[in-house]
Amino acid sequence: TAELPLKGRHILVTAGPTHEPIDPVRYIANRSSGKQGFAIAAAAARAGARVTLVAGPVQLPTPAAVDRVDVETAREMLAAVEAALPADAAIMVAAVADWRTADASGQKLKKDGSGKPAPLPLVENPDILATLGKHGQRPALLIGFAAETEKVAEHAQAKLARKGADWIIANDVSGDVMGGDNNSVHIVTANGVESWEHLPKAGVAHRIIEKVAHALSPASD
Ligand code: C5P
Repeated sequence: TAELPLKGRHILVTAGPTHEPIDPVRYIANRSSGKQGFAIAAAAARAGARVTLVAGPVQLPTPAAVDRVDVETAREMLAAVEAALPADAAIMVAAVADWRTADASGQKLKKDGSGKPAPLPLVENPDILATLGKHGQRPALLIGFAAETEKVAEHAQAKLARKGADWIIANDVSGDVMGGDNNSVHIVTANGVESWEHLPKAGVAHRIIEKVAHALSPASD
């Protein structure tokens, strides 16, 4: 119906950072408040969808009528995402850490007095979006986010192909977007680029969900 355009649909959203442990008291992470992903999950639920929100460590309340799965690391996030399939659309907003430590220490690492820091070998994390892009249960609509500070649309265009996504929503994070309440986005698809004005994150979420509902509607199948 017009009021609940996503009724009967399952929408999967990732949000927040991941934390990759170095030792019991330290971790590697990206900067992410989780606000945009949580706003998208809330908007999808308001549009009538069943929503699974896979959230990294953030201090945000769970939006109404959203199923939330809390995770810590990228590997846990991937497992939770795969467990939530099938989904009609997946919107991957999480700022996943690209690397984790090869071996997290069970004990707090100590300065040894030599003045030389402990070595910190890293290994690459799985790319959750790219994994879904070639998954046997790939959602019909697969959407990634990309934080960029320059050549925003150009970089997003390349990412679209590399990740096997349908849309990349490029954030221009050169301004006050990080942790803030507003966002500047460009929607990059195979058909080109649509740039939206600077909007509150809730407004961006609402417009994204309208566009998702339109893309999933039988008329555009
Ligand atoms: O390559 P980049 O990290 O800029 O791509 C960002 C997009 O890919 C986001 O949608 C993010 O959620 C997703 N991503 C992911 N798993 C990773 C890295 C990024 O799902 N390991």
